[in-house]
Amino acid sequence: MKLLEEKIRAEGKAVNEHILKVDSFINHQVDAFFMMQIGEAFAGHFRDKGITKVVTIESSGIAPAVMTALALNVPLIILKKQSSKILNDDLYQTAVTSFTKGCEYELTMSKHFISKEDHVLIIDDFLANGEAATGAIRLLRLANATVAGVGILIEKSFQPGRDKLIEQGVEVFSLARIKRLGKNLIEFLPADSKMTEPRN
Ligand code: G4P
Repeated sequence: MKLLEEKIRAEGKAVNEHILKVDSFINHQVDAFFMMQIGEAFAGHFRDKGITKVVTIESSGIAPAVMTALALNVPLIILKKQSSKILNDDLYQTAVTSFTKGCEYELTMSKHFISKEDHVLIIDDFLANGEAATGAIRLLRLANATVAGVGILIEKSFQPGRDKLIEQGVEVFSLARIKRLGKNLIEFLPADSKMTEPRN
């Protein structure tokens, strides 16, 4: 998505070879109009896939996911990160390790909002090692739902997340793909094709 690449070039800061800071429009301050355009871009790509629910992982995935759900006119379910297991028959839970943040958490989803009839689109802000999205896929498959795809704003293509998701038979659609980061350097790969550019 050209708009997202331009925004990353203008406002993003490569902290080092591994981390891109996008606090001014995604992770801290949220550019709401821009998120609406992001939602339309995901909806444009996934519109014909029979999506019944959008799922995201708290917290930075929520803004783009709510806009995607709005554009597709379906509900959004937010997966919660709990620090420890909760004993509750109404919940699916799975352990996720974050290598970027060096922590582990229990990803949690209520049994009430997803069923085997659902075709689910997972939306998240970053794809790095693919652990969070893999956890979401595990929970959705526990509920016997169909994972229709994963939509990502910023894929760090030098990390293994994309391949990990594709190995699980899931389509990955990334609006921006980063080939390399370095001091004052942000290099992109061509974004995924079949892109619907939103209206300005
Ligand atoms: P993975 O799910 O792909 O394996 O990613 P990983 O655990 O390594 O990343 C964990 C957290 O770090 C996620 O946020 C992810 O969005 C964030 N992250 C990864 N790489 C970058 C980066 O280059 N820049 C920024 N800004 N964030 C990155 P989280 O823990 O879910 O936090 P939240 O912001 O959603 O609350």
